[in-house]
Amino acid sequence: MSIQIPRGTQDILPGDVERWQYVEGKARQICKNYNYKEIRTPIFEHTDLFKRGVGDTTDIVQKEMYTFDDRGGRSITLRPEGTAAVVRSFVENKLYGLPDQPTKLYYIGPMFRYERPQSGRFRQFVQFGIEALGSADPAIDAEVITLAMDLYRSLGLKKLKLVINSLGDKDSRTAHRNALIQHFSPRIEEFCTDCQNRLEKNPLRILDCKKDRDHELMKLAPSILEYLNSDSKLYFEKVQQYLSDVGIEYSVDPGLVRGLDYYNHTAFEIMSDAEGFGAITTLSGGGRYNGLVQDIGGPETPGIGFALSIERLLLAIEAEKIELPVEASIDCYVVTLGELAKEKSVKIVNDIRKVGLSVEKDYLDKKVKAQFKAADRLGAKYVVVFGDDELSRNVVSVKNLQDGAQEEVEIDRLVLYLNDKILRS
Ligand code: HAM
Repeated sequence: MSIQIPRGTQDILPGDVERWQYVEGKARQICKNYNYKEIRTPIFEHTDLFKRGVGDTTDIVQKEMYTFDDRGGRSITLRPEGTAAVVRSFVENKLYGLPDQPTKLYYIGPMFRYERPQSGRFRQFVQFGIEALGSADPAIDAEVITLAMDLYRSLGLKKLKLVINSLGDKDSRTAHRNALIQHFSPRIEEFCTDCQNRLEKNPLRILDCKKDRDHELMKLAPSILEYLNSDSKLYFEKVQQYLSDVGIEYSVDPGLVRGLDYYNHTAFEIMSDAEGFGAITTLSGGGRYNGLVQDIGGPETPGIGFALSIERLLLAIEAEKIELPVEASIDCYVVTLGELAKEKSVKIVNDIRKVGLSVEKDYLDKKVKAQFKAADRLGAKYVVVFGDDELSRNVVSVKNLQDGAQEEVEIDRLVLYLNDKILRS
């Protein structure tokens, strides 16, 4: 039996990869506008980084990590997300010491989670994410959210829903935590074993439980917004003010708790409400994580960021029936007739490529008709045709495949001729 691709992963083949390149290009361009610089960290890290960073009680750490011992006996994990690794690198490379603060970074790369695969949920997926480290100004929370919305809008997405919440600072969270314990304790045995374990360790996680989501105590659970102290409340109001200032619509959902432990203050998710997007509607998520840099061994540094997967972004683009302006065609195809012409085509093709045009030729001794067909399939704008007769006169024939016009051009002038035509088309 042939070997097949692992469950929850996918090959991105030519024809589809152009859409990936297009959206990744847009993400890079927007990061340049907002002055976020690219960072590339390893695909695997020490397991402890995620235990400490993402949180021991989260589903990601408890159930979803690809963890193994390497040959040196170290516990290694394929990164399930980007934030912990970026923070590790920020601390290890002392980026906090650079003159330009906050440190604004972005990344695009594969992440790994052992989840049950379905549409929009993979075991390997590509995240684009940004992290702004070193500022506790609510304006940067608004900037991160605005960048995310800008990217979606620049790709033509309209059916978006931005949901925000505040998880408050440490004091607010402690007060809320106690209220949650009081609320759930008397009837905790009606909940799943995961929730029973969460009660003392991290009761906020109970609100995120999929199994017990319909339990009546869930709806009645104390809302974090009632436990925000005045600083946290003011912070959240400022974020909302800035979002309104730049014309971003949002709704506040006190039930939005996010699946990772490092968050405080601002948390947000962007959903698609496009018809046909499927069961999973969350396109991206993020929030503030003051305290994470310290947890990972660095100086006290506030941070905020978000991430999205390209897979879900492309699904949303499909659901909204948006045609991306991707170009897969080539500039020119060289068709030859006869042995001498075939040999000469090697240099001609090379000369055309040297000026930056895209060009292809035949390597399978195809008949002229089949070479024209190949040119058509590749979407070539021009075909350069020659045989022994043309070569003896030092010319080639150039056919414009869009309008059918054909001209003879001297070989020495061919590159200039094509360059000129293609630049003008
Ligand atoms: P997250 O909510 O776990 O947050 O993931 C962010 C996004 O990654 C999701 O909204 C979704 O688009 C995508 N995603 C997650 N799991 C999968 C999957 N199995 N298949 C396809 N796409 C998936 C984080 O990862 C945080 N690090 C975000 C962040 C950055 N917070 C602050 N900075």
